[in-house]
Amino acid sequence: MCGIVGYAGSQQAMDVVLEGLRRLEYRGYDSAGVAVVADGALASVKRAGKLGNLEKALGETPLPSATTGLGHTRWATHGPPNDRNAHPHLDGPGQVAVIHNGIIENFARLRAELEAGGVGFNSDTDTEVVAHLLAAEVAAGSELADAMRSVCRRLSGAFTLLAVHAEAPDRVVAARQNSPLVVGVGTGENFLASDVAAFIAHTREAMEIDDGQVVEITPDEVTVTDFDGVSAQQRRFHVDWDASAAVKDGYDYFMLKEIAEQPTAVANTLLGRISSSGRLSLDQMRLSDEELREIDKVVVLACGTAYHAGMVTKYAIEHWTRVPCEVELASEFRYRDPVVDRQTLVVAISQSGETMDTLMALRYAREQGARVLAVCNTNGSTIPRESDAVLYTYAGPEVAVASTKAFLTQLIACYLVGLYLGQVRGTKWGDEIRSVVRDLADLPAKVEQVLETMEPVRSLARELAGSTSVLFLGRHVGYPVALEGALKLKELAYMHAEGFAAGELKHGPIALIEDGVPVIVVVPSPRGRSVLHDKIVSNIQEIRARGARTIVIAEEGDEAVQPYADHLVAVPECPTLLQPVVTTVPLQVFACEMASARGFDVDQPRNLAKSVTVE
Ligand code: F6R
Repeated sequence: MCGIVGYAGSQQAMDVVLEGLRRLEYRGYDSAGVAVVADGALASVKRAGKLGNLEKALGETPLPSATTGLGHTRWATHGPPNDRNAHPHLDGPGQVAVIHNGIIENFARLRAELEAGGVGFNSDTDTEVVAHLLAAEVAAGSELADAMRSVCRRLSGAFTLLAVHAEAPDRVVAARQNSPLVVGVGTGENFLASDVAAFIAHTREAMEIDDGQVVEITPDEVTVTDFDGVSAQQRRFHVDWDASAAVKDGYDYFMLKEIAEQPTAVANTLLGRISSSGRLSLDQMRLSDEELREIDKVVVLACGTAYHAGMVTKYAIEHWTRVPCEVELASEFRYRDPVVDRQTLVVAISQSGETMDTLMALRYAREQGARVLAVCNTNGSTIPRESDAVLYTYAGPEVAVASTKAFLTQLIACYLVGLYLGQVRGTKWGDEIRSVVRDLADLPAKVEQVLETMEPVRSLARELAGSTSVLFLGRHVGYPVALEGALKLKELAYMHAEGFAAGELKHGPIALIEDGVPVIVVVPSPRGRSVLHDKIVSNIQEIRARGARTIVIAEEGDEAVQPYADHLVAVPECPTLLQPVVTTVPLQVFACEMASARGFDVDQPRNLAKSVTVE
């Protein structure tokens, strides 16, 4: 959740580290801090609040010139987000500086032990124990990397740790255990970071670090070992993200930019995966056709927005392949004794590839023999590395905390998985699937068309900014879209928002309808499954009769809904299963505008972090 950057090279370390932290600030933003090694001493500054507070402090009291340093943005776990608990944490004499992402579960015992030995503590964090333990090891004669290995053997929990020592001016040492860490490999400089976004402006060559490893970087060398000091094989990869994707580019918010990038993101995710004859080929699918034919159940695991993409996947997979498909919140999965085995295909959906709940669920599923296919946006992240097959989404870096373009590309990837399974297994493979494959190719233009007509949605959001609650209704694949619309509004506008399956209304939620309450209804296409359409038109009438203000998202030309819509948002025609790709966009725009009208930070909503690396 926290953002971590380390640098050893020839540039000013502070410039590199701060730039990296800016790119990682979305991971957590309760406090921030930096440390550099200069002239045989450590210098460190840290501040509660967003990175801007730290930058201001550094403007007033600049750190000395140095070419080795580290920095951190924090999402608090132990101890409130104040200056004292901000990272880095130093040992008493200020010889070692440590930053940390994760939770050290046995810190209380270690702290008690250190305190009994006379060590004084300056913070409430679990991290500080590591600074004291490292300092003691180095004082007893160990090199910093040896000290790190020895300390790691005593820690339990999840951690990425980075440390510098006053007397080791050219090196940063790091350790990884169930928490993200990648190395950026440059020329005459090397980087450590929680994700590649921190260093892509400098190098696009990266190296994976596994759990249970310690890595030491100097300007010219990267050394990787396990916690016992045994050399580890180095696995490099090339990052194809472009650094320019991680800047606002004239937009007021990253979220607006990322919403606007959706047609390209969708097109990129489709690129090269459908041949001119309409056959699907997923070149990163490392499961054989034979293995896929053996599958008798699909289980989709994900969290938050990715879970909503998973819900849509269930409708698509079951319809196209007739293979039963369950979708489950990753955080619930492994605690309920789920039935999975070698015939189960688990689809793990994650933008970051680091979400701990999803990672733990997929590890559990693999232990039970399931095969795992990851749908992921982040090259080199943990979830795809631990899966049997990967289907990358090509959304590019998503910086705004609220997911937008990643969601749309997750939908596309999941459709591809469903269609591919249909193709391989031969079930229901026929005219419908062939025509869906053609329809997929039209989606980027359709998303573009929706984006061009969003001004009325923006003014409506501003008009409704004083509301206390907004409800969202949908049926079939419109139901996960309703949930997604409500989630976006909650996380960005801090407003009560709930999504319901429209058919459930009469079983309770209709009691929430009172005069003037805005209800956004996602209406399925009137073509095809018209029963579904008729039913939702009745639901709209029912809520309107009770005073709701109806905002209806419906296919253009859908005349049946018009008499009951106080506000109508028309979206282009799409086959039912693909509709979420177009119907979600107005809900993203609505939430973004609402948050901005209410004066909230659109890109960095309170209490949230982009990458949730603790359970
Ligand atoms: C909401 C949002 C979160 C994430 C969730 C899973 O806008 O972004 O709900 O979708 O935390 O994250 P990933 O996809 O990185 O596993």
